[in-house]
Amino acid sequence: MLTRVSLVVVLSIAALAGACSSDDDAGGSKNTGGAGGSGAGGSGGSGGSSGGSGGSATGGAAGSTGGSGGSAGNTGGSGGGGTGGADGSAGAPLKLSETGLYSDTAKGTLAAGVVEYRPHYQLWTDGAVKKRWVYLPPNTKIDTSDMDYWVYPVGTKLWKEFVRDTVRVETRLLWKTSDTEWQMMAYQWNSTGTDADAVPGGVQNASGTQHDIPSSGDCLTCHGKMKDRAASFTAIQLSHNLGGLNLGDLISQGKLTNPPSGPFTLPGNQTDQDALGYLHANCGVCHNDTSFVFTLVDMQLWLKTGNLGSVKTTDTYLSTANKSLTASNPSTGKARLVPGDPATSDIHIRMNQRGTLTQMPVLGTEIVDTVGSKAVDDWIKSL
Ligand code: HEC
Ligand code: HEC
Repeated sequence: MLTRVSLVVVLSIAALAGACSSDDDAGGSKNTGGAGGSGAGGSGGSGGSSGGSGGSATGGAAGSTGGSGGSAGNTGGSGGGGTGGADGSAGAPLKLSETGLYSDTAKGTLAAGVVEYRPHYQLWTDGAVKKRWVYLPPNTKIDTSDMDYWVYPVGTKLWKEFVRDTVRVETRLLWKTSDTEWQMMAYQWNSTGTDADAVPGGVQNASGTQHDIPSSGDCLTCHGKMKDRAASFTAIQLSHNLGGLNLGDLISQGKLTNPPSGPFTLPGNQTDQDALGYLHANCGVCHNDTSFVFTLVDMQLWLKTGNLGSVKTTDTYLSTANKSLTASNPSTGKARLVPGDPATSDIHIRMNQRGTLTQMPVLGTEIVDTVGSKAVDDWIKSL
């Protein structure tokens, strides 16, 4: 459950983000409307699209109206980062079984064309265990002319399942329905595991766990800041041999318009790679140069494939080490990153906060990731 204070955090950052985005980006403000629509659409849309059947989904939405209102506001800020499209949730199916993930949902049999994959580095969600799948429409290619920000073919679907404390709580869908539109929805599993229902308003402490299912508006707070929304089905994240579909497979299957010669390797030793990868996955979704957040804080934690020659040529290092703070809600750090000294590094300070105005990431977690935080501390000490 979000504490009161952390909800306030989200709302105030949202207000801030919303205010700025409408100034400088027509797409952003247009999206604000769209997002309001999606947040409300989360509820309104669910009312509309669910008709009679969505009793439980709609109940869920109504139950967390406060949170979903917050998200709608929050989403306002998100729009500026992306293509200015009309992302939403009203077009998403009401049941997971209608999304095309499984041919037999109760048995967990994947539908034809759906493939499991994993990113090299994962987003921390308070210890939840996750699985991910992708569907790329036949005879399509991912536009990789910008290797750092892929553009997916219309019809692409991505799913992510969350298991918390052995309970399978939810499965999320990102579905690209037009060049400028993604549907974003979470589905909460029923108690018998036969299907999952759309919960556009999100659910706090879902299914007897401490896990909060985000509203569709919250999806946009993060995914709306990636150029084409997806965050883990990317060049750097698929550069591994850890199992599942990877970059090498996509190259050999001819699925990329501009295939690279091979997988990408992060620079440095294990300590460097662990920290750079962690920050890429956990922070880069907002802290990248296509994001609205970049207009507030010119820090890039999203690694660029062209700048992997050494640790000190990464944007992560260049935009943090000894760089002064520019956030309008400053924390107490001396700089974004102080080489050798995690304690005075703003990155460390914010990663170790929860329920404050300055916690990072801003949402989606209530428990500090001690392992991830240590990886970043070890790296800062080594610099
Ligand atoms: C706190 C930010 C955040 C929020 C909120 C969030 N996501 Fe994500 N999501 C991410 C990040 C970062 C990744 C990639 C890393 C990973 O999967 O571990 C991701 C991955 C995914 C994936 C796998 C495909 C991809 O993007 O690479 C899906 C599907 C997904 N999210 C759907 C959703 C939906 C639907 C919602 C809202 C109900 C949502 N997410 C809310 C940050 C977020
Ligand atoms: C959902 C989007 C989002 C995610 C994810 C996110 N941040 Fe931020 N971050 C922000 C926003 C928005 C601000 C600026 C807030 C302000 O201006 O007060 C910010 C500010 C910061 C700052 C202040 C920099 C300065 O110059 O003052 C640091 C440091 C930071 N974030 C680190 C991180 C780290 C580390 C992570 C991952 C563990 C992360 N952030 C993940 C949205 C995000």
